[in-house]
Amino acid sequence: MDTVITHEVSDKFAEVDLFSIEQRLRAAKELTLPLEEEVSLLYQMAEFELGRYLLKNRGLNGYWTAYWLIHGPKLQLEHPLEDWLINHAPYFMGSQKRFQIFAEETQKRLRDGMTVASLPCGLMDDLVRLDLSDIKDVNLVGIDIDAESLALAAKNAVDHGKVACTKFIQADAWNLNMPNAYDLLLSNGLNFYERDDARVVELYKQFFKALKPGGTLITSFITPSPALSKESSWINVNPQDALKQKAVFADIMQGRWTAVRTEATTRQQLEEAGFIIQAVIYDPQGVFPTIIAEKP
Ligand SMILES: C[S@@+](CC[C@H](N)C(=O)[O-])C[C@H]1O[C@@H](n2cnc3c(N)ncnc32)[C@H](O)[C@@H]1O
Repeated sequence: MDTVITHEVSDKFAEVDLFSIEQRLRAAKELTLPLEEEVSLLYQMAEFELGRYLLKNRGLNGYWTAYWLIHGPKLQLEHPLEDWLINHAPYFMGSQKRFQIFAEETQKRLRDGMTVASLPCGLMDDLVRLDLSDIKDVNLVGIDIDAESLALAAKNAVDHGKVACTKFIQADAWNLNMPNAYDLLLSNGLNFYERDDARVVELYKQFFKALKPGGTLITSFITPSPALSKESSWINVNPQDALKQKAVFADIMQGRWTAVRTEATTRQQLEEAGFIIQAVIYDPQGVFPTIIAEKP
C-alpha cells in the first residue's frame, strides 16, 4: 500500500468548508479554549494561505513545510495568527530549532565519497543547503512519495548549485527495497504522522535496511505535553501558547501529526529495529528532539 500519510494529494486548494468545521466545533463536548474563541481562530486561519492549506489538508506537504520552516521566518508576516503559528507555536518553533540541529549534526558527519539520503525529502532543504566545499564526491539522494515535492526539490537543488551530485527517487518509505545504500539517512516528518507503533517500528526497519553497516540515522520525534504524559519533556513552554496550539492543531484542524512519543518509546522502537542510540538532542522547549542512531 503506497500511501501519502502527511497531506491530501488531490484537490488541495479546493474551498475549505468553514461552516462544517464551525458546526463540528459547536457540537464538540469538550474544547481547549472557549467556543467563541475557537470559532474566531477558525475564521482567522481562513484569512491566510498557510492557514487555509492546514485547514484543508490537516498536515504539511514539502512546499508548506519549507515555507514555514525556512522562508516564512524571514518574511514580515502580516497576519497576526500566521505570525503566531510560525514564530510562537511550540511545535513550529521546535522544528525550526530541529532543522538547525539536523544541519549541524549532518555537516559534521560528512566525509568524502559518502551517499546521504533524506526521506521523506520534501524540498530537501536539509541536504541542498549543506556546505560541500571541503568534501569530495558526495552523493545526495532525495526520496519522497510525492512527485510534486520531488519536482520542487529538484529545482531547489539547481538553486543551491547541487544538481550534479543529487538524485531523486519516488518511493513509499514503507516499501523502499534499497539495501545497504546510504552512509547517512535523515528523516523528519513521517513518524509523527503515524499513530500505529508497529508501523513506526516497520518504518525504522526500512531505514535500518537502507543504511550501510556503520551508517547513521538522524531523525526526530514530537513529544507529548504534560497534559498527555507524566513523562513529558516540555520545559519553558508558555501555557497560553500550548493551549492555543492545541486549539488550532487538534480541535480546529484535526491535524494528522498527532503521533507524539516520549524519548523512552522512541529509543525502544529504534532499538527494536536494530539501531544503537548515539545521542538525543533537545530543542530548548523539549517538544521536538533529534535522535541519532547507528546501524552496527
Ligand atoms: C512534513 S513534510 C517533511 C519534509 C522534509 N523532511 C522536511 O523536514 O522539510 C512530509 C513529507 O512526507 C512525504 N510523504 C508522505 N507520505 C509518505 C510516504 N508514505 N513515503 C514517503 N514520503 C511520504 C510528503 O510527500 C512530504 O513531502
